[in-house]
Amino acid sequence: MNKNSGFRISDSLISWYSVNKRDLPWRETGDPYCIWISEIILQQTRVNQGYDYYLRFIQRFPSVKVLAGASEDEVLKYWQGLGYYSRARNLHKAAKRIASSFNGVFPREYHDVIALSGVGDYTAAAICSLAYNQPYAVVDGNVYRVLSRLFGIATPINSTKGKKEFAGLAQELIDKKHPALYNQAIMDFGALMCTPASPKCGDCPLQAACKAYELKRQEYFPVKENKSNVTNRYFNYLFVNHASDTYLKKRGEKDIWAGLYEFPLIEAGKLLSGEELLQDGNFQRLFGGVDVELHRFSTPVKHKLSHRLIEAQFILLRIDNETPLLKEYLRVPLSRLQDYPVSRLISLFLENGGVSF
Ligand code: ADE
Ligand code: SF4
Repeated sequence: MNKNSGFRISDSLISWYSVNKRDLPWRETGDPYCIWISEIILQQTRVNQGYDYYLRFIQRFPSVKVLAGASEDEVLKYWQGLGYYSRARNLHKAAKRIASSFNGVFPREYHDVIALSGVGDYTAAAICSLAYNQPYAVVDGNVYRVLSRLFGIATPINSTKGKKEFAGLAQELIDKKHPALYNQAIMDFGALMCTPASPKCGDCPLQAACKAYELKRQEYFPVKENKSNVTNRYFNYLFVNHASDTYLKKRGEKDIWAGLYEFPLIEAGKLLSGEELLQDGNFQRLFGGVDVELHRFSTPVKHKLSHRLIEAQFILLRIDNETPLLKEYLRVPLSRLQDYPVSRLISLFLENGGVSF
C-alpha cells in the first residue's frame, strides 16, 4: 500500500470501527483517569479479564485523589492476580504526584503525562488521544501487526530501527481530525480482524490494499528479531569402547537433562579436534596413563533447547584398561544401552547407528 493513500486507510479503519467496535466501559468516558487505569490494566491482561479488574478498581478508587489517598497495600490488593505489581505501585506513585503537583487534576500536556511513573510512549499517546483528542498515534502490538501486514514491512518490531519506523508510519497515518477514533479503530481492527493467527482477510475492508494479503504472507508479519538470549554450549561426548562395554553417568540436578544418563562429557568452549582433546585437562584426568585410540569423530550435530543451542559431537574411542576416574562412571554393556534414559540428543545419535565401531 502506498503511504500517500493514508487518508483512505484511516477512513476505512474508522468506518469499520463504527460498525464493529467493542463496547468497553472506559470508552467515550473522556476521563483521562479512567483511560489511564484501563490502559495500564490492559497492558497486563486481555480485555475480558481486564474488564472486571477495571470495574472493581474504579469503583473503589473513582478518582486520582481517592487513589492518591489510599494505602499502597490496598492498591496492591485490587491488583492482586494481575501480576507485575510494579505497575500498581507506579499507578499509586503517579496518583500521588498528580495530587501534589497538579492539584489532583490529570495533566493535559503530553510531556507531563509521559513524565508520570509507569507511563511510556504507548500509554501517553493513548491518554492524550483518547481523553483529549490530541494527535498522538498509539503503537501497540495490534498496530505493529496491522501496519507490518498492510505495508509488508519486515523490519523487526523489537529493533530500534523498527520502533522508529512504525512510530513514524503510525504518526503519518493518524487522522488528525479524529485521533481518538482512529487509535481505537486500529487497535480494535488488530484485535478482532487482523488477528495474530488466521486474520479474517476474507471480510477485510483493506484486503485490496494489503501487501501481506497480496503475497499470501500474512503469518510472516510482524517480524521479530530473535533476542531470546540463546547461549551456546559445546558438548564433546566420549563414546568409549572397552571390551564391548561403554561408560555412562547420571547427570546432576542443577542443569539441563537432570537425572538422564550420558557418556563421559568434555564440555568446552567449542567442539574439539583430536589434538585439542588429547591436550584437554579433563580428558587427561579421565584417561591419564592409559592408551587411548581415538577411533572416529561423529559429524557435529546441533540440538536446540528453549534457551540453549547445544553443539555436540561424539568421539568414538577405544581403551583396553580402565582408569581410576572411569570408575566414577557406570560400566554398561553396549547391548544394554537402551535400558538407560538418555537425552534426545543421545538417543538420536544411538538410533543413527552411533554404535558402529
Ligand atoms: N488494548 C489496549 N487498549 C485498548 C484500547 N483502548 N482499545 C482497544 N484495544 C486496546
Ligand atoms: Fe490484516 Fe488480512 Fe486485512 Fe491484510 S487483508 S489487513 S492481513 S486482515
